[in-house]
Amino acid sequence: TEGPEVIDVRALGSHGYFTYDPGFVSTASCKSKITFIDGEKGVLLHRGYPIAQLATQTDYLQVCYLLLNGDLPNAEQYANFKKRVTYHTMVHEQINSLFKAFRRDSHPMAIMCGIAGALSAFYHDNLDIYDPEHRELTALRLIAKMPTLAAMAYKYSIGQPFMSPKNDLSYAGNFLHMMFATPCEEYVVNPVIEKALDRIFILHADHEQNASTSSVRLAGSSGANPYACIAAGIASLWGPAHGGANEACLRMLERIGTVDRIPEFIAKAKDKKDPFRLMGFGHRVYKNYDPRATVMRDTCHEVLKELNIKDHPILDVAVELERIARSDEYFIERKLYPNVDFYSGIILNAIGIPTNMFTVIFALARTIGWITHWIEMNEEADSRIGRPRQIYIGSPTRDVRPINERE
Ligand code: ACO
Repeated sequence: TEGPEVIDVRALGSHGYFTYDPGFVSTASCKSKITFIDGEKGVLLHRGYPIAQLATQTDYLQVCYLLLNGDLPNAEQYANFKKRVTYHTMVHEQINSLFKAFRRDSHPMAIMCGIAGALSAFYHDNLDIYDPEHRELTALRLIAKMPTLAAMAYKYSIGQPFMSPKNDLSYAGNFLHMMFATPCEEYVVNPVIEKALDRIFILHADHEQNASTSSVRLAGSSGANPYACIAAGIASLWGPAHGGANEACLRMLERIGTVDRIPEFIAKAKDKKDPFRLMGFGHRVYKNYDPRATVMRDTCHEVLKELNIKDHPILDVAVELERIARSDEYFIERKLYPNVDFYSGIILNAIGIPTNMFTVIFALARTIGWITHWIEMNEEADSRIGRPRQIYIGSPTRDVRPINERE
């Protein structure tokens, strides 16, 4: 039913016809082989593999390899890839000083925008974005360094020393270690928590041309430094309509607090004069259950069981909110279902990750999607700078008058 409007811009003083598609609802900006979504059926495939199979039968580094290389690795390819990633997990010593320039109470997403962009100052001189080997090296560095930087942002905020990566741990295990170990105390990685976090990483790895990925592609289309492009992606992800929804969702569930208050918030979400929306509900592309949300909900129950959390008031609110919303005409008519972020916050909260780190974890996981799209774009021989047009609706041509003659 929705589609771009074709506008004759000659009447507006320009040449020819433009399509006008606010929010890019029906406009493809590129061709891609990476991810397929059928929003009506609730299907998400990476390189042809269903997301639920990837989430339950592989791990995040296998998915990174898949996105970058087009197929899942065999055992030897996997071992080699893992070795190459872990080689890059440390960050330049001078990065430590950069962190110290931020206020301790800065939002960690603000820090991540700055620090990821600053990587462009460390990896600039020899970078050739037209050389496939350099592009791959950029991807390896980013996959490896994002967990280190994310954990550093957390440690900085609580005033604890940064923890160096431990390369004999798994990708998720190493992140947990850098977040929660201290120089005085080891962090023993719980395998269920490790698996759950790894699953969260997989479920966020890529999602085709969402706002942040499109930002990375648009920034990259000018030939900009890839680390600066990733900073553009992080900035775009931060908003509550996109990656910031996981943080906003948990805060909303906490604000609702008890099951008896749900009808009040459902009424607010339906009230067109009230800007409030149910966070973690609705999606531009999915008009069916987000397939990532199904896996996330199951993982949420597994984690709470493992941690022996029997009464979890926030989970009770979430389950009941989903039940009520899914039987409400407003949400049914608009095909508004829980999205990937509806349950992820509850898992992260149970693991002990502070709420303001939720979107950082999304950024860490989505980095592979961003850089794979950046590589795909740069592989095209006829790649062009992204340059949307506009429909000008301002003043017609007029002459500048001397300042003392202006009204
Ligand atoms: N609560 C209440 N009403 C909603 C919600 C919601 N969460 N989402 C959409 N609607 C309503 C809109 O008000 C609109 O109603 P109308 O037709 O009566 O005007 C209709 O559903 C369509 O909504 P749009 O805003 O046109 O949908 P759009 O595709 O532009 O937005 C978005 C999608 C941003 C995800 C939206 O559903 C939303 O704001 N959801 C809450 C935030 C959220 O969870 N974001 C995470 C998305 S997933 C991700 O980025 C990982």
